[in-house]
Amino acid sequence: MPDESSAAVLIVDRDASIARGIVGYLEARDYEAEWVDDGEKAYNLLDSRPFDALITELNSHRIDGMRLMAVAKDRNPEICVVLITEEADIALATEAMRQGAYDFQTKPLNMGKLEAVIQQAIGRQKLVLEQHELKRRLDEQYGLGSLVGQSRQMVKIYNDVRQIAPTRASVLIRGETGTGKDLAAQAIHNNSPRRDGPFVKLNCASIPEALVESELFGHVAGAFTGAVSGRKGRFELADRGTLFLDEIGELTAPLQAKLLRVLEHQQFERLGDSRTMSVDVRLIAATNRPLEQMIETGAFREDLYYRLRVVSIDMPALRHRREDIPVLADHFIKRARETHHKQVSGITRNAMDLLMRYDWPGNIRELKNIVEGMVIMARPGKTLDVHDVPGYLRQTAAPEVSEIRIPTGVSMKEVERIVIEETMKVSGYNKEVCAKTLGIGLRTLYRKLKEYDIR
Ligand SMILES: Nc1ncnc2c1ncn2[C@@H]1O[C@H](COP(=O)(O)OP(=O)(O)OP(=O)(O)O)[C@@H](O)[C@H]1O
Ligand SMILES: [Mg+2]
Repeated sequence: MPDESSAAVLIVDRDASIARGIVGYLEARDYEAEWVDDGEKAYNLLDSRPFDALITELNSHRIDGMRLMAVAKDRNPEICVVLITEEADIALATEAMRQGAYDFQTKPLNMGKLEAVIQQAIGRQKLVLEQHELKRRLDEQYGLGSLVGQSRQMVKIYNDVRQIAPTRASVLIRGETGTGKDLAAQAIHNNSPRRDGPFVKLNCASIPEALVESELFGHVAGAFTGAVSGRKGRFELADRGTLFLDEIGELTAPLQAKLLRVLEHQQFERLGDSRTMSVDVRLIAATNRPLEQMIETGAFREDLYYRLRVVSIDMPALRHRREDIPVLADHFIKRARETHHKQVSGITRNAMDLLMRYDWPGNIRELKNIVEGMVIMARPGKTLDVHDVPGYLRQTAAPEVSEIRIPTGVSMKEVERIVIEETMKVSGYNKEVCAKTLGIGLRTLYRKLKEYDIR
């Protein structure tokens, strides 16, 4: 029996006497039950208000039960859907469950059973909603929901972000490509009192040098050839918010000087304009270049450097925190599964071992892309395995010393099969390495792999 506010159940059945039976039974147990006799009416009702459960005939009039289920799930992903059919049909039941039905029942209905199913589903819904709520509150508190990883280095990043976010201090984020500099910048903004203000980004390396200045500060009409109309710059757009300057090491000397002035006075002029504008902008800069070295060679201004790095965050390379690889891989598998609607049940230990041994020069971006590719290429319903891992990842994995256990009582042929299979595994499925280890020719290996059906 539902407690607190009563749960709303929609019943779709052409048979009025059956429907009345269900409605009566549920209402007597404090549910709010509503009945319609065809799919289209149900469709309209689902659009007009929220339901916790939907009990529908599989072959309901005008819109069938499966379609209705999809619509209901679209409105409320947690809705409990129970499909009702005239006769038991295992294939159909399986398909319905696969598409997200909570249960499948055949007529004549057992009311007690039906109510038990709904009660259980609603209990589960409440739990899910509570978890969502908890996550939402955590996100609100920390806004770090998008950053994954539990390593000591990442925990330090989370703490740093929380600590510096509430201030107005300029932040310099350093780190190799793909380590999450963009995400960290966004997290700082989301956690700051400016979170409702704009977060504006400019990548100093992605636009022609000559245009960076007008992108930053804006221009008036006629300020330069091609400036037909006036335009606001990123500093103006970021007023009361955060400006994120990516690849700051690419700024030319004159622009470094201008930027320094803005940071000191929060003032600037649009190109071609003599009026001075004031803005309230927090600056976050990022780079994967060694600014200290650039200072020594005169390529980067030292005074600007100190202005920018009032606080600095160093994003750790993935190979220095390998323990995060499984969490990240799982996270990206889940995401890819949703994006590409692919049923992939996870990843095997051996395949994960390969991911953990690789050095990831492209860091998390590379891991994300590889995992996504693996999910897209995998056969539906499968667990990602070693042969789903791209070849170049396997080749960098050095063969390890490991033992092979061979049971007694097997033929020489079986011994050979086991030895080849195990050597393939420790060679990261690299055939050249495997053949070399075994002291046989590559062609011979290919032949034996085929003979023993090893992939
Ligand atoms: N800790 C993390 N958890 C989850 N996803 C992450 C994490 N770090 C990075 N990513 C993802 O990896 C990709 C690269 O991250 P991001 O763009 O922030 O890196 P970057 O350091 O700015 O790279 P670049 O130097 O190339 O600009 C993005 O898709 C991002 O969502
Ligand atoms: Mg970036």
